[in-house]
Amino acid sequence: MNILVTGGTGYIGSHTSLRLIEAGHRPVLLDNLCNSSATVLDRIATLTGTRPTFIQGDIRDRPLLDRVLREEKIEAVIHFAALKAVGESVEHPLAYYDNNVGGTLVLLAAMQAAGVRTLVFSSSATVYGAAQQMPLREDAPLSATSPYGHSKLMIEQMLSDMAAADPRWSFTSLRYFNPVGAHESGLIGEAPQGIPNNLMPYIAQVAVGRRAALRVFGNTYPTPDGTGVRDYIHVLDLADGHLAALDHGHGRPGLQVFNLGSGQGHSVLEVLGAFSRACGRDLPCEIHPPRPGDVASSWADPTRAQAVLGWRARRSLDQMCADTWRWQSTYPQGYDA
Ligand code: NAD
Ligand code: UD1
Repeated sequence: MNILVTGGTGYIGSHTSLRLIEAGHRPVLLDNLCNSSATVLDRIATLTGTRPTFIQGDIRDRPLLDRVLREEKIEAVIHFAALKAVGESVEHPLAYYDNNVGGTLVLLAAMQAAGVRTLVFSSSATVYGAAQQMPLREDAPLSATSPYGHSKLMIEQMLSDMAAADPRWSFTSLRYFNPVGAHESGLIGEAPQGIPNNLMPYIAQVAVGRRAALRVFGNTYPTPDGTGVRDYIHVLDLADGHLAALDHGHGRPGLQVFNLGSGQGHSVLEVLGAFSRACGRDLPCEIHPPRPGDVASSWADPTRAQAVLGWRARRSLDQMCADTWRWQSTYPQGYDA
């Protein structure tokens, strides 16, 4: 299939595009490069022998979308493009509603006009808000604690309303838990700008000497070792989840929602221990107060994705750390250093 991948040069988009090529699809990557580098295209070419078609542009540019959908003969869309920093969304809510909600609105309108009616959407476990009961099933109550979270909830609502109005639409919303890791070659991975907000890239920068010590946000949570527990999922498992969702969803009416997680929780100290093993030395940490807005624990019930899509996460925490370390130690400054 010819597949438009919005946000295709980003962290998850690049790994998914690579998998699409390997599976015989033709991804067309559209990205405005606000949080990624075009260098990743060379790396995908090295790994697959195919340089994907890339269009530098914005999902809010309707004439551009009309042209790309028509000229590239697009049959389905995987929609990654979004801003994703929770704290930044609290400071700049309008940018998040404009980019994430407004951008998706323009994309859906262009798809409707072009008659392209299959979309796989990047949602997030953040839509479960401050849920208390674990593991999280897709029918758990939804809420949001940040403009970022609200933007994901609003988009899921838009997809639900459109699916109800026209049975020709096929929507899949994938709620990712905590994507980490890198391609096993070490050629592509996550390259956050500035100080990483998320745990794994922060630890990776400690390991490579760019940061002094991990700041552990809270060690008195009601968890086995007192630190926060999350469901980490290897980015290649996540990428494969998109292929499974596309296979299942294409041509199937309605909105389908799936958790993509491993179903297992790991604490901050467990992740630090696993990374220390991967890089071969004990990494330093300091205990800090809890980060505002954090929950103690969050992990998925991934049963539905396994039952319906035949997909499950296969890679272990050790592998996630080993692959992150290979990428980080090969390219300590990311893509353009
Ligand atoms: P990323 O920032 O690496 O990728 C997003 C890409 O979208 C970037 O390359 C960016 O340049 C591009 N982009 C942003 N706005 C755009 C616009 N208006 N037009 C065109 N391109 C635009 O992030 P990621 O980690 O790969 O996340 C991909 C998707 O998954 C996002 O929708 C994110 O909200 C969602 N998600 C990510 C995580 C995570 O932890 N990484 C967790 C849950 C959900
Ligand atoms: C964060 C986002 C969430 C998003 C997810 C994607 C917040 C509040 N939530 O989730 O919306 O979907 O990223 O991956 O930002 N930690 C430290 N030190 C650090 C960084 C993190 O101790 O330097 C701890 C956190 O307190 C948490 C765990 O590590 O217990 C994971 O944190 P992080 O990687 O930021 O992910 P989430 O907070 O789960």
